Amino acid sequence: MASPSSAVTLTKMGVSHVPQRYILPASHRPNTLPPFMNHHLPIIDLSSLQNPFLRPQTMDEIRIACKEVGFFQVINHGVPPSVMKGALDAAVEFFDLSMEEKTVHASDNVHEPVRYGTSMNQVKDEFQFWRDFIKHYSHPLSSWIHLWPSNPPCYKEKMGSYAKEVQVLQKQLMEVVLESLGLNPNYLQDEVESGSQVMAINCYPACPEPELALGMPPHSDFGSLTVLLQSCLGLQVLDHHNNWLSVPVVEDALIVQLGDQLEVMSNGEYKSIVHRVTVSSEKKRFSIASLHSWALEKKMGPAEKLVDQEHPASYEEFSFKDFLDYISNNDIMTAKRFIDTL
Ligand code: SIN
Ligand code: FE2
Repeated sequence: MASPSSAVTLTKMGVSHVPQRYILPASHRPNTLPPFMNHHLPIIDLSSLQNPFLRPQTMDEIRIACKEVGFFQVINHGVPPSVMKGALDAAVEFFDLSMEEKTVHASDNVHEPVRYGTSMNQVKDEFQFWRDFIKHYSHPLSSWIHLWPSNPPCYKEKMGSYAKEVQVLQKQLMEVVLESLGLNPNYLQDEVESGSQVMAINCYPACPEPELALGMPPHSDFGSLTVLLQSCLGLQVLDHHNNWLSVPVVEDALIVQLGDQLEVMSNGEYKSIVHRVTVSSEKKRFSIASLHSWALEKKMGPAEKLVDQEHPASYEEFSFKDFLDYISNNDIMTAKRFIDTL
């Protein structure tokens, strides 16, 4: 259960120091230099895929982004800015509710379809993270929406509209990513259609000592793709030289992160991206991560077409359920990437 000592509650109480359990060992703390803003992190204009003259170059940009970074931002992606704003507004209103109203959904059981909590896993985490969240299953929407928060009253409608739009976008993105690997874009149609969409709505309140704590530890997402909406700076990605790069906020853009399932399916051609969240002493930050994965019990290994004598299968099969079973017994700080534990 989320205790009254969540990051949001501590901020409301006006604490001037972070409690000891949030203080990370020196080697895990974010550096206090101004963030190294990398404006070369790829931004892809998805509308150019509709233009036969621009499409080949855009496909190349996507292939390079997936291979070299495992991350890109998309613009002209089809999700209306008003729907994105609506979802962020619903998130702001939800975290403004009283603790009693939010803890109706509190649970430490990672298998719960709707779950409010704090840190990553407040029971297992050796160090606590400066983050409150609500997570919910979201696809197919009609199977889950009745379990979502009824308060604030706009929540289901606004978050539901966003969930539906992102589900459509995610299918398009997956087709393009498969094509960029030389696979049939419909190769995983059933897995994508019956796959799961878990939305993690995060609130990172202003933190009195942001140099000592993190909002989320370094990790990669377990699933196939994550589509992420951020309200302000805070997300950082790890590059090949082990530098943390701050992801700039691009107006109306959405962030796409490749997850472990995609790395496995691509037989290592594409890599999942390790990322973390820093906190700020001035700004409260919100983000909405739409985490997509193959169906809960579907075990999947490398695509047959990407395995041959020169490229033997380099990964074990695993399912979303294997991941959940792992994290219900382990501290996430011990595994930056779930696939490294297999
Ligand atoms: C996440 O890693 O799921 C969330 C990242 C963020 O808050 O930007
Ligand atoms: Fe993540």
